[in-house]
Amino acid sequence: MHKLVEKYCEMPTAIRRPMWRVWHNLIIKLDKNKDAVFMNYGYQSLNGDPALELENHDEANRYCIQLYDYVVRSVEVANKDVLEVGSGRGGGASYITRYFKPKSYTAMDISSGVVKFCNSYHNVEGLQFVAGVAEEPPFADESFDVVVNVESARCYKSIRKFFAEVNRMLRPGGHFCFADMIKKGEVESIRKDLLSSGMEIVSETEITKNVVKALDCDHERRESAIVNKVPGFLRKSFLQFAGAKGSERYESFASGKMEYWHFVLRKK
Ligand SMILES: C[S@@+](CC[C@H](N)C(=O)[O-])C[C@H]1O[C@@H](n2cnc3c(N)ncnc32)[C@H](O)[C@@H]1O
Repeated sequence: MHKLVEKYCEMPTAIRRPMWRVWHNLIIKLDKNKDAVFMNYGYQSLNGDPALELENHDEANRYCIQLYDYVVRSVEVANKDVLEVGSGRGGGASYITRYFKPKSYTAMDISSGVVKFCNSYHNVEGLQFVAGVAEEPPFADESFDVVVNVESARCYKSIRKFFAEVNRMLRPGGHFCFADMIKKGEVESIRKDLLSSGMEIVSETEITKNVVKALDCDHERRESAIVNKVPGFLRKSFLQFAGAKGSERYESFASGKMEYWHFVLRKK
């Protein structure tokens, strides 16, 4: 099973989409207290920048929140219409809506189960969760100022089609904030795919070391949540998915075999 998690992107797309639904429904069943509202590897500064100020109840998710904060912080979000694609359990959408105060925040995910969970769990003014597929988003041309995409696009059926859709949905001058893991040596191909959409690159940064540092800092929380909630036969798969120390995913970041990149693009 844990090999399925590692090799997920190499599987036929017909299997990949239902796999997310199964995975989300499993987490909904196992996480009875609803503690897990993020599904990313996190971000931590390498040079001792002052800690991001968070409300007490957000502290447990500090590293995952810091990734979202890093991803959007260079663009104007206040009073803007924001779309997130691949919003998962909604923690990032809730954080950005509460702290950055957009005019509206629409968070879309392929799994209707997780969308239902998010709409009942996250009660934040201006935030709504909808079901939809990244390559065929149900939104009109030029309907958003910012599109956010965190750790979701890597295994889409067509990443080029998704980037073209982002360009279509953005208003002129709008921004695309994108972060994901990319296999070593493949960033040039992603850069080409991004540029093929017609958007221009404003900034690009490799943040693998920040992600490894976040995984180190967050290790205990991730591991104990899994040990406490996940039955033994599934634990290895969850530790892999969570990037726990000792997992192949953690090692792939630590060794540089897998990189983590952040891009900001602008619609011309
Ligand atoms: C690793 S999770 C990241 C979730 C969230 N961005 C976070 O950082 O917590 C990836 C998410 O992308 C969603 N996803 C995968 N393929 C998708 C697609 N084609 N369209 C929309 N969402 C998709 C999955 O259901 C999952 O919730």
